[in-house]
Amino acid sequence: MASTTILRTSFLPKRSEWFAPNSHQSTSHLQPTSVSLTVRAGSYSDELVKTAKSIASPGRGILAMDESNATCGKRLASIGLENTEANRQAYRTLLVSVPSLGQYISGAILFEETLYQSTVDGKKMVDVLKEQNIMPGIKVDKGLVPLAGSNDESWCQGLDGLASRCAAYYQQGARFAKWRTVVSIPNGPSALAVKEAAWGLARYAAISQDNGLVPIVEPEILLDGEHGIERTFEVAQKVWAEVFFYMAENNVMYEGILLKPSMVTPGAECKDKATPEQVAEYTLKLLHRRIPPAVPGIMFLSGGQSEVEATLNLNAMNQGKTPWHVSFSYARALQNTCLKTWGGRPENVKAAQEALLIRAKANSLAQLGKYTGEGESDEAKKGMFVKGYTY
Ligand code: 13P
Repeated sequence: MASTTILRTSFLPKRSEWFAPNSHQSTSHLQPTSVSLTVRAGSYSDELVKTAKSIASPGRGILAMDESNATCGKRLASIGLENTEANRQAYRTLLVSVPSLGQYISGAILFEETLYQSTVDGKKMVDVLKEQNIMPGIKVDKGLVPLAGSNDESWCQGLDGLASRCAAYYQQGARFAKWRTVVSIPNGPSALAVKEAAWGLARYAAISQDNGLVPIVEPEILLDGEHGIERTFEVAQKVWAEVFFYMAENNVMYEGILLKPSMVTPGAECKDKATPEQVAEYTLKLLHRRIPPAVPGIMFLSGGQSEVEATLNLNAMNQGKTPWHVSFSYARALQNTCLKTWGGRPENVKAAQEALLIRAKANSLAQLGKYTGEGESDEAKKGMFVKGYTY
């Protein structure tokens, strides 16, 4: 990408402004700089802002369907199916071709296999999504591995070769990306693990933006643990402070990112449960303290909450005005009933698609603060927490 001297002509913040002396400063010791301001031209800036805004549009959120092959295999095993490419294709065809899905879903995060895959009827999955005005996205991280020198914690791989992968994904139709790293409260978290998570997310975000993809920034604070909501709040404040510190250092343009936080809840094994109002209060307090209003959208993960719980919590957060679009990017809390209803049987496809649409609509209402929680099934109320969950 070219470096160039420019005049500021746009109201948009310019990406990657290298530090240059202000004209009023004494600059004798800094000469000879022949330019007043050197800026790396962010050729995708306008597009990134537009993409992020369109994903963060009223009453819509993200369908996360980017399970790695290993995780997808676990899902398929839960309904007695083998983890074959054909079965993954059948399931993902069902998901992307739900009629009217685009009314409630603005983006779908795909695993690499799906980005390059066709539906069972031979249409590109990406095209089926675009026809419904759903933006295709791509999981670009390469998963978690043990973090040497830490307290049994993890770090997220995937920076090597990321720029060229992002460029190829853009060519294939992806317009946003996702990188999920995790922070464990029972294991610390150590300062090392938090720093590593934040730095990795910041490098990923800068590289994605350079290649036209809106980065979803996801430091998942795992639900694992017996701690109370205050402790989650304390850790979340630390994590988000570091993430924004390093994103600023890496010249990430905040108008062109989306966040995917965990909601602030007690640990899954804590005796005290929190009401949706308490979750909303703590989570909004965290967002107000740590997230600049330039960020267009906060798209929560569900993290093992039941479908109904995730929707009720989101609804509680949307009872007042916020500077951001506060919405969802759920995998389990959108797909669970749908997957169970399908059960791998072609005759159940229609009913399974209706189940997904019901969840998408419920979360759309929650994004608008209008969800009532009435008429939900028992399946939708089942928690899905799994200790040490990977994606
Ligand atoms: P869950 O909503 O199942 O926690 O998924 C998180 C995620 O990162 C999916 O992209």
